[in-house]
Amino acid sequence: MTVRLTIAAAGRLVTSSMVDSAGAFLMCWTGPVRADVADVTRSSRRHPRRAPFRGWPVGPYIAPDVHVTDQFQGSAMPGAQLVDAVAVVTGGASGIGRALAERFAAEGARAVVVADLDGEGAAAVAAGLRSPAALGVRLDVTEEAAIAALAERVESEIGPVDLWISNAGVGGAPGLGTEDEWRLAFGVHVMAHVYAARHVLPRMVARGRGHFLITASAAGLLTEMDTAPYSVTKHGSVALAEWLAIQYGDSGVGFSCLCPQGVRTPMTASFGVDSATLAAGGFLEPTDVADAVVAALGDGRFLILPHPEVADYERRRAGDRDRWLAGMRRVRAKLAGLRSTERAAGSTQPAGPATESTVMSADSAEKSASSVGSNESMGA
Ligand SMILES: NC(=O)c1ccc[n+]([C@@H]2O[C@H](COP(=O)([O-])OP(=O)(O)OC[C@H]3O[C@@H](n4cnc5c(N)ncnc54)[C@H](O)[C@@H]3O)[C@@H](O)[C@H]2O)c1
Repeated sequence: MTVRLTIAAAGRLVTSSMVDSAGAFLMCWTGPVRADVADVTRSSRRHPRRAPFRGWPVGPYIAPDVHVTDQFQGSAMPGAQLVDAVAVVTGGASGIGRALAERFAAEGARAVVVADLDGEGAAAVAAGLRSPAALGVRLDVTEEAAIAALAERVESEIGPVDLWISNAGVGGAPGLGTEDEWRLAFGVHVMAHVYAARHVLPRMVARGRGHFLITASAAGLLTEMDTAPYSVTKHGSVALAEWLAIQYGDSGVGFSCLCPQGVRTPMTASFGVDSATLAAGGFLEPTDVADAVVAALGDGRFLILPHPEVADYERRRAGDRDRWLAGMRRVRAKLAGLRSTERAAGSTQPAGPATESTVMSADSAEKSASSVGSNESMGA
């Protein structure tokens, strides 16, 4: 007996849950299968074409008999439209957030709201934007009521939020972290995104459109070897972004998680002499990150890796965790040696004390560390 499976979605995107349901059935079925995917609307013209069923453990049954009447867009969510969009960028007074705000305005956003703990900085960035309606506001993302009030204000005074960029971030001190450091990191890197999800997402879901982006870090996919609160809470950022994308990704709302390594921003500006080593893999400019974000938004892509090599590091980490950890320990030892040499040489650069920049430099260290791990795993 041959099972004929048809996924037909005239005028709609074939959703991942539809495909998953079919996949779950096929995993239990050991007989031959004929599969059709019909009348499927593409979610994005820029997303690479992908044949259906790739990766399913049903290839042997499908292969000779499969008939595909169209191609669908894999798991991509709807792409985000920047022209005429209303965008809110937290942490927008500086660095990556500022570059995103400027880029959205340049791409034709109708309104860009720059929100930051540094209210004056936010106002200054907003004043320089080429946007018909730019607004700079003070916002502490760790205060739920403040996020709720901003969401309400933008919706009522400007219009429906099309893009919420939850980007504000803080560094931290090397080490396991004090209570206050954990509270701050957790507040900014996890709860701030939860608050935004509580007060922004329901409106987007009700409208069936919008895009929600969380700036995490490569530290959230790999690790950050200096500061535990940063590393752990950035893992939390990634986990939350994934949870939201699973929970609401079929509602018409798009989700992205931005995971850069080293980026030249005020957060990384005062990094010590050893940063040259750490940055050997390459610091990006915030504008490079903005390029990557705009491309990914157009594609409706979830994971945004401005340093594409991070994908390989993540695969290696998952492939052999013990080997990866051993590689990271070796890099940590090398960096410790480098820093003590600098101290002995009387370097004026900050070697030990925690600054935000040392934290983010360790994002770059991930690359060095991962490279070491990769070379070793390749036997180099
Ligand atoms: N620079 C890097 O190498 C790098 C790498 C990976 C991830 N990131 C992440 O990118 C994001 C932006 O960092 P950046 O490098 O542009 O740093 P940045 O210091 O230039 O900008 C961070 C902004 O967040 C704001 N902010 C901090 N706490 C806030 C709060 N409670 N409420 C509102 N705003 C607050 C700051 O005032 C600042 O303007 C952060 O989430 C950071 O963790 C940075």
